[in-house]
Amino acid sequence: MDQSLINKIRENIDIVEFVGEKIELSKKGKNYIGLCPFHNDNHPSLSVSKEKQIFKCFVCGESGNVFQFLMKFENISFMEAVRILGERIGIQVASNTKTLENKNQKLYDIYEIACSYYQNNLLSKEGEEARLYLKQRKLDMDVIKEFRIGLSLNKRDMLTNLLVKKGYDLELLNTLGLTSFDVDTYINRVIFPLTNTFGLVNGFSGRIYHGENTNKYLNTTETPIFKKGENLFNYSRAKDSVRHDKFVIVMEGFMAVIRAYTIGIKNCVALMGTSLTNEQITLIKRLSSNVYLCFDGDDAGINATIKNGKLLKDNGCNVKVIPLKDKLDPDDYILKYGSEKFYSLLSSAILFNDYKINSLKKGVDFNSPNDLTNYINLVLKEISMEDDSIKREIMLKNLAKETDVWYNTLEKKLNEILSKEKTNKISPLPKIEQKAKRKNKYEKTMQEIIFYMLEKKEIITLVSRSGVYFPNELYRTIIREITYFYEKYGYINIADFLSYMENNKEIKSCLNEIVSLELDSSVDSMVILEELKAIKDYNVALEIKRLENLIRNEVDPLEQARISDEIRKLKLGSEKK
Ligand code: CTP
Ligand code: MN
Repeated sequence: MDQSLINKIRENIDIVEFVGEKIELSKKGKNYIGLCPFHNDNHPSLSVSKEKQIFKCFVCGESGNVFQFLMKFENISFMEAVRILGERIGIQVASNTKTLENKNQKLYDIYEIACSYYQNNLLSKEGEEARLYLKQRKLDMDVIKEFRIGLSLNKRDMLTNLLVKKGYDLELLNTLGLTSFDVDTYINRVIFPLTNTFGLVNGFSGRIYHGENTNKYLNTTETPIFKKGENLFNYSRAKDSVRHDKFVIVMEGFMAVIRAYTIGIKNCVALMGTSLTNEQITLIKRLSSNVYLCFDGDDAGINATIKNGKLLKDNGCNVKVIPLKDKLDPDDYILKYGSEKFYSLLSSAILFNDYKINSLKKGVDFNSPNDLTNYINLVLKEISMEDDSIKREIMLKNLAKETDVWYNTLEKKLNEILSKEKTNKISPLPKIEQKAKRKNKYEKTMQEIIFYMLEKKEIITLVSRSGVYFPNELYRTIIREITYFYEKYGYINIADFLSYMENNKEIKSCLNEIVSLELDSSVDSMVILEELKAIKDYNVALEIKRLENLIRNEVDPLEQARISDEIRKLKLGSEKK
């Protein structure tokens, strides 16, 4: 692929603007900072440099230019990122590169074929009963199309035959969970496609639809492109709405998400019946750290709300809850009470802490001193976790009123808890990744020189004219590549050089270290000349060391004399300078 085109695309997209669309950034000094989307970040540790057009996380170490940000963010290949960003500024990048680059493309192709096949079934004559079922569930054609709902027929080998005929290997189809033991996995079920964060179909959930006495849902097994704990239903579709609404709603099941969509609430994702994993929390926070939980109104849903709410809070999210009465799930609730009722629930969502305190009341006998004490202590513990002192006072007043215990007694107890917690709390310092082993003085000097070569083209000329040999192969390669880049394109900057080096992991990680040096960007040529001389001297020292070793193992006295003469000359030469 043409490097100048890649450079041109990169040059026309401001990384601060682009990253700012994905995560919230705020200006700090010269740079912009935000929560890192690549690890579970609680304090902003991602720094984006407008000047250098690169990003870097000081905790997980992830770094790169705008392409590399998008690659990592969407889990796509370099070419794919170039294509997408190219499109953004109206540059068409040949799309056949996509198929070449994505190593899982074939798997996604297969899923895409299966998905279209299922969609067609639903529209066919044999799909009549399933269509009726969906109609009864109040899902109309628009939403069926949008979510690409389909149907697997009541036959054992329809999809299998179709895919084998297209040349796909049965073994692969088994691995992908589309077939099991060489026949169709999904038989006679309504099919809901699952998609990755990018919207590509990577799994299915098949629902029974005429009352068979078997598993209600049959889900995709873990495959190279589907990990249950890393998927969230509707994630890719919800992205834009969340950006607009500034919060994301998490639900238990996908029917709930689809229902919410039908009434125009499009910022929902679903867990699909599991507890939130770390990966899912990271994904959610990538959308927004304002999270609303709208789980089923039954006991299981309440427990899940508490459990997942805590997880999200611990991970720095602002959590609110939309509680549903009558043990209903959002789907049933909306169907029963209508969209307006749901909108108003949404706008009066309650803070997670208040929800948690409310839930503590359940089963408490307020006439039993034991029950009551226990309850008060639990609530005080919750209140102690509230950061806002005004909020604490209000909560305390409510508790006093509710339990008829004197306010001052409660306050005293709360203060005890607070002071105990203070002594227990040692705020952990963010761990900076220290993968790189310690560098010696000369390695540091070489890194500095490379840093400045990427800053100022004059330094490139200076270094190549000096003819100094860098005693480290990796640095030599980098310098050669920088020089080549500069000669070919007539300029240099780290962001474009990173695209250029995209395929070389070792160089990329070394550049990452070099960029992190955070040196003053202006430098005098004299300083570089001195550094170059230091490396030259270092080379001589290394050569002397080598020769001295040679002498030690040399038996021939003549040869010994010759080597020692060489050493003497070397020593003299470096003294002269
Ligand atoms: N689930 C599952 N297997 C089951 C039951 C549930 O995988 N046997 C998952 C599904 O992803 C489902 C979620 O758990 O979306 C929530 O389950 P549930 O509330 O029972 O399903 P609903 O979404 O309410 O679906 P429906 O209304 O069709 O019963
Ligand atoms: Mn339901």
